[in-house]
Amino acid sequence: MTTTSGKGPMGPGGGSRAPRAGEVDGAPEADASSGDGTPGGGPGAGEGVAALHRTNGAGAVGVTVADPAGSGPGPAERLAGGPVMLGAIRRTVTVSLDGTEVRVPEDATILDALHREGSPAQADTPTLCWAPNMDPINACRVCVVEVEGSRALVPSCARRCEDGMEVRTDTDKVRHSRRMVLELLASSVDMTQASADVARWMTDYGVDPDRYGPPAPPAAAGERDRRHAGHHPAPDGATRATVAQPVKIDNELYVRDYSRCIMCYKCVNACGTDAQFTFAIAAAGRGFDARIATEHDVELPGSACVYCGNCIGVCPTGALKSVAEHDRREAGDWHPDEETVTTTICSFCGVGCNLELHVQRGEIVNVTSPADHSVTHGHLCIKGRFGFRHVQNLPEA
Ligand code: SF4
Ligand code: SF4
Ligand code: FES
Repeated sequence: MTTTSGKGPMGPGGGSRAPRAGEVDGAPEADASSGDGTPGGGPGAGEGVAALHRTNGAGAVGVTVADPAGSGPGPAERLAGGPVMLGAIRRTVTVSLDGTEVRVPEDATILDALHREGSPAQADTPTLCWAPNMDPINACRVCVVEVEGSRALVPSCARRCEDGMEVRTDTDKVRHSRRMVLELLASSVDMTQASADVARWMTDYGVDPDRYGPPAPPAAAGERDRRHAGHHPAPDGATRATVAQPVKIDNELYVRDYSRCIMCYKCVNACGTDAQFTFAIAAAGRGFDARIATEHDVELPGSACVYCGNCIGVCPTGALKSVAEHDRREAGDWHPDEETVTTTICSFCGVGCNLELHVQRGEIVNVTSPADHSVTHGHLCIKGRFGFRHVQNLPEA
């Protein structure tokens, strides 16, 4: 087990280092461009596929068990000499990041390029709806950059790099757009439990949600859920509209505090095709009244939810959180600065999921999993995420 201080990579209080493009569990994948120096990363004239295969420690693999044309020892002999690394062969493209040319795999997004090859400032591109363990959602647009020849700003998290692309990340247009995205969100949503990175970006970009006036009174419980699409009431002109409403507490495991929801769709995709394939939640309503809802707005125990908590794991604003965290925050007993994170293996079954136990003052307050873990990809089941209460009940030694 390993223990570190501070929040783990997932969860509302922590950001995730993006695995660099081509890494698996922190190890660099074979890169087609390394070694031969051929533009585009392809094999040079006269070289076969074998020339691109990474060698093992003895430096003599050359061909792999997947290469039927290879000669030499058979599969059994080759495997006996150690693991054979099979890496995807990928071409590279050259892009310019604020005037500096870099080469990245051709399937990399601009954000991948900024994380992998950019300066610290470029790698600090703000994101809200992006996560390293999810397909790009492309909803929040806080990650926009300028691309030469493109009339509109482009979302760096979703746009693939193209050879010769010229990207600018810190122009007035980019900064203004990012500020507006953050400011409009903060004017209507409670962002106070978003990660420290989000708070820093709001300061860096000069976000001032109060310039839209004082917040309107919160909606009553269920009021926003009953609104009909296309019937948004006219603003009163004196206050700014918000999504403030009571917290939904309808089960013993997690709460839904949609006053903090920025409609990033991460929970929807985590519950759907990105991880869980349960489809218990989706977007309902239109425009400002759009919201995350269960089917027919039933309470969670009556929905398809299986309480895996993967939606909690990806929520960037604290809208979804465990009851344990919610109750501690309400009681003024929440101490993130004192939190340690211990990595261990889930003992409930034989899959071997990595668990990160978030501990405050001797008690487990949350359980997450590393986004770059090859078994979980940051996602867990109900047992791994919530099955820790018995630990607290152990008699003292
Ligand atoms: S807990 Fe799991 S099943 Fe339930 S809404 Fe969240 S992701 Fe879907
Ligand atoms: S509940 Fe969280 S993850 Fe879901 S849309 Fe709202 S902010 Fe995003
Ligand atoms: S982070 Fe790129 S669109 Fe949301």
